[in-house]
Amino acid sequence: MKEKILQIKNDAERELLDIKNLDELNYFRIKYVGKNGALTEIMKGMREVSKEERPAIGSLINDVKTYIENNIQKLELLFKDQELNKKLLNEKIDITEPGINNDLGLFHPIQKTFNKLIDACVEMGFEVVCGPEVELDKYNFEMLNVPKDHPARDMQDTFYITEDIVLRTHTSPVQARVMESRKPPIKIISPGRTYRVDNDATHSPVFHQIEGLVIDKNISLLDLKMMLSKLLQILFGDETKIRFRPSYFPFTEPSVEVDISCPNCKGEGCSLCKRTGWMEVMGAGIVNPKVLENCGIDSNIYSGFAFGQGIDRLTMVMNKIPDMRMLFENDIRFLDQVK
Ligand code: PHE
Repeated sequence: MKEKILQIKNDAERELLDIKNLDELNYFRIKYVGKNGALTEIMKGMREVSKEERPAIGSLINDVKTYIENNIQKLELLFKDQELNKKLLNEKIDITEPGINNDLGLFHPIQKTFNKLIDACVEMGFEVVCGPEVELDKYNFEMLNVPKDHPARDMQDTFYITEDIVLRTHTSPVQARVMESRKPPIKIISPGRTYRVDNDATHSPVFHQIEGLVIDKNISLLDLKMMLSKLLQILFGDETKIRFRPSYFPFTEPSVEVDISCPNCKGEGCSLCKRTGWMEVMGAGIVNPKVLENCGIDSNIYSGFAFGQGIDRLTMVMNKIPDMRMLFENDIRFLDQVK
């Protein structure tokens, strides 16, 4: 018995030297001190040991057991330590490295202007309607009282896709589409992208407009003036004055250009308003009865007004941007500066 126990101790001693990790240690633990381990088995044989020998054998087994368990504990601590160190090394963080900056997304300056205008219009009861950018000549021109070969076509230098399909030169075709498909009263705005053959510091081949259209009984120029005054005051401040200058658009009669007192100098005259104290912001007018008839609306019963505003120029004025093309270069250093 005694030899057997010492043999176990010897074997264990030798094996302990070869254990390299926690898995192997676990295997060792089961082999010697587990439920069916070598030492446990030996203890079962104690019954056969004579009374005299029992205390000595018992304490020998205990010594070997303590020896093995102490070693297991030591190795366990060692391996756990090693594993932790390895993990720390692998997951080392360089706290001096500069962080990755997550910039917040922003609306584009043009979208900001759009949002201000759309919010103000929706507050005044307008519904937002959008239309196609690749448009039929019919809606872009003909129904708006600009037949083929009409001299007014020169006012809008057009990208033709075919003879009958154009890139819309303004958002006014949405007027025609809505009037053709609905019955008055109508009160819509139509924001969107528009195209003309133009490219310099104050013109871009792609630009943006918002169109407004109100059709009902007894609509007059006075309604137009009241509504635009309110709208422009919401946008530019209560003290903003507006004035109408006679103008010409084939789809409105009479037609006007709408000026506001310069929001920068309040009418005193500055470089933004070219020292006039006024700034041109939109075209507008009473919808030409011919347009109403073209769209199937009885011009003896109904009348209406329309206005169209360029968003790009307005964005330039509001933010003192010197060149329209800056709005389309998407240089974040520039875009970040626009409030
Ligand atoms: N569609 C015109 C333009 O782009 C603007 C406008 C709209 C004028 C509605 C009058 C009425 O020039």
